[in-house]
Amino acid sequence: MLHFWIYFQLILFGEAFIKFKRNYEFRFISADHTGGTAYVDVTRMRFLGRERYANGTVELKYDFGDDRFSVSAESFSDPNGDGDYKQLPMFVPRQPICKAMESYWKYMEASLKYGENTDFPVHIRPCPIPKGIYYVKNVTAQTDELPAIMPRGFLKGVATLYDKDKVAGTVEVVVQIYDIQHLFQIKFKRDYEFRFISGNYSEGASTYIDLSRIRLLGRERYVNGTVELKCDFGDDRFSVSAESFLDSNGDGNYKQLPMFVPRQPICKALESSWKYAEGSLKYGVNTNLPIQNHPCPIPKGIYYVKNASPQADDWPVIVPRGFLKAVGTFYNNSKIAFIVEVVIQIYDSF
Ligand SMILES: *[C@@H]1O[C@H](CO)[C@@H](O)[C@H](O)[C@H]1NC(C)=O
Ligand SMILES: *[C@@H]1O[C@H](CO)[C@@H](O)[C@H](O)[C@H]1NC(C)=O
Ligand SMILES: *[C@@H]1O[C@H](CO)[C@@H](O)[C@H](O)[C@H]1NC(C)=O
Ligand SMILES: *[C@@H]1O[C@H](CO)[C@@H](O)[C@H](O)[C@H]1NC(C)=O
Ligand SMILES: *[C@@H]1O[C@H](CO)[C@@H](O)[C@H](O)[C@H]1NC(C)=O
Repeated sequence: MLHFWIYFQLILFGEAFIKFKRNYEFRFISADHTGGTAYVDVTRMRFLGRERYANGTVELKYDFGDDRFSVSAESFSDPNGDGDYKQLPMFVPRQPICKAMESYWKYMEASLKYGENTDFPVHIRPCPIPKGIYYVKNVTAQTDELPAIMPRGFLKGVATLYDKDKVAGTVEVVVQIYDIQHLFQIKFKRDYEFRFISGNYSEGASTYIDLSRIRLLGRERYVNGTVELKCDFGDDRFSVSAESFLDSNGDGNYKQLPMFVPRQPICKALESSWKYAEGSLKYGVNTNLPIQNHPCPIPKGIYYVKNASPQADDWPVIVPRGFLKAVGTFYNNSKIAFIVEVVIQIYDSF
């Protein structure tokens, strides 16, 4: 039924424009709600993958009939992706819930198929809309009924549900609308978070580095502790290579990814990758490693890290979800000195 609300937004445009051939695509970005879960619970809905399939359940806690419930909707557009939303002149005036649904049903029909990807009886258009827990599975935004012209960018629809004359809650859905042919040129907003899961290292490591006093704390898995570098790490002697693996289902079945760092001098490798760490490590704040100076060689010493969490504005906007394992191999001259393995979890930010 989240879909219902989403289409509520999209259809606004349907009435307003002539039908041309559609030259855009859209995908769900996020969904949010206010008013708690006393009427509708959408907290178990997720958007999966780059295509952002809708997956999960929606619970309707009442029979939603015209005698008691009504809805209205408004829309906002953020063409540049900078969070600056402007209200659009398209809206659904407040009206009885079944009546609204009846007028806008056609926009949902291509996406929701009873018995295939949902157990909500879309085919019979029930009124009242019966209470219950409904699943949607692998649902993409598909419709031929959408208008041909849509503003590009981030479109936010806000639907308000009324119980008699009282606002019962709102659902806010953001979709992204982009040119079909420009799919890969668009600046997407980063829509994932990640956290450290674990780290381990090969036995030989202790000659060079002491990682045994590093801990991952709490649910957020802050990095805390000290790292000892037992020698200066300079390009004269040290080099590093890295590979990556993905376990998308959390079942321990890692597949190698085509992302790797070919072996190169250690400072050169760090020079290109410092930017990914700079958001997380701040000299004098949460570490005494002078990261901002990009020191080379990286001087021997004991460095602390205090409550560091991964922050990455420089990370790519599209990354696979799941468990990502990075394996760094450090070389002393031509011999492998030690191997460090780090697992992080990447998940949707909502
Ligand atoms: C989507 O939901 C279905 C059932 O609701 C579940 O079986 C499936 O594992 C979910 N898919 C993912 C990728 O989580
Ligand atoms: C989800 O749907 C897409 C096409 O819409 C299909 O390619 C994919 O295999 C489906 N995934 C699952 C888990 O059903
Ligand atoms: C880390 O632990 C895993 C599982 O125990 C092991 O397969 C892997 O070789 C270890 N990595 C290193 C660098 O020792
Ligand atoms: C993290 O480390 C700092 C000092 O290194 C320590 O003061 C602090 O108590 C640690 N935090 C936790 C939660 O252990
Ligand atoms: C690096 O390897 C050289 C031999 O190639 C060895 O003499 C040196 O001790 C090693 N460095 C460290 C820090 O162990």
